[in-house]
Amino acid sequence: MKYKKLFAAVLLALIMVFGITNLFAGTIPVDPDGTYTSAVLDTSQDSGKLTARYLNTTGSRKTTDDVTYAGDCTVFTSPEGLIMVVDCSNSWNFEEIDVQLQRMGVDAIDIFVMSHPHIDHIGSFVELASKYPIGRVYKNPHEYTSGTYQNSMEKIKALNIPCETLYADDSFMFGDQVSVKVFGPEKGAEENLQAGYMDANDLSLAMRISFKDSSFWTSGDIYITKEIDLVEKYGSELDSDVMKMNHHGYDTSNRNEFIAAVSPKVAVQFHSLITNKIVAMKYSLKHKALTFYTSQDGSISIATIGDGTYEIQTQYIRQITNMYGKPSANGHYSIGKD
Ligand SMILES: [Fe+2]
Ligand SMILES: [Zn+2]
Repeated sequence: MKYKKLFAAVLLALIMVFGITNLFAGTIPVDPDGTYTSAVLDTSQDSGKLTARYLNTTGSRKTTDDVTYAGDCTVFTSPEGLIMVVDCSNSWNFEEIDVQLQRMGVDAIDIFVMSHPHIDHIGSFVELASKYPIGRVYKNPHEYTSGTYQNSMEKIKALNIPCETLYADDSFMFGDQVSVKVFGPEKGAEENLQAGYMDANDLSLAMRISFKDSSFWTSGDIYITKEIDLVEKYGSELDSDVMKMNHHGYDTSNRNEFIAAVSPKVAVQFHSLITNKIVAMKYSLKHKALTFYTSQDGSISIATIGDGTYEIQTQYIRQITNMYGKPSANGHYSIGKD
């Protein structure tokens, strides 16, 4: 009798727990404007997880006869709540980044990583550093002559922010449980750049960010030549579950051999449009990655408890239903272990 009662109590508890869990999964709150902006930027469930938020920055500015597109900005939160920002899009995108950081409840940035000094990656740095205390900056070795870069370096000096240049085979910890390993650029690459043998994009910091069995890959704007170097040097060490498409998804980059080596389950593209249909199809059809585009999906959060599974939430419900994948009803996707 006693055991029957205990059994019934345990059963009831299980039903309640799983019932509530399912209820939550089915009712992701939609904002009054019909988007899932609050769900993407809600950090209340971040504890114990590594979460990457790929921030959509629109604000593409039409200059005289050219359109400048949105750049990269990824915000990682560590299981203990530290913040690491990789790149910060163009200078005219600061407000969009700022609003999203505020909604996340971010009031300081522990680590800021400059993948490389192009304006669509460090454009908002001066404003960002003026508003948010930054604990440490990691950068690539390219001493760029642009005003944007020079002003950023002056800001770092003026604020006394520790700043370190990273090279292949360096590594650092993002909190106690997340490690970041650097795969590029090689030492001496900046001399090749100056001699004209190398493109600035190829010097982008290439990093694998891992938490137990979960992993994220990011390598700025590297081109195919650098991708092939990485595959030759590191092979399966590049293997990561979630990756940012290189160079905004252009076909200057994203070579098949490289995608195969990373073998992502999920690939995210930062840009103001789906940049290249062939590249997009390579990721989704050939390599069977679930693909997300800030231009279609808005900001995207990808969270993992470190077990190789991922919960993904997009800001918008995707309108396209073709080869880029089927949209989910509430912008939520669950990625299993395999
Ligand atoms: Fe670039
Ligand atoms: Zn770029």
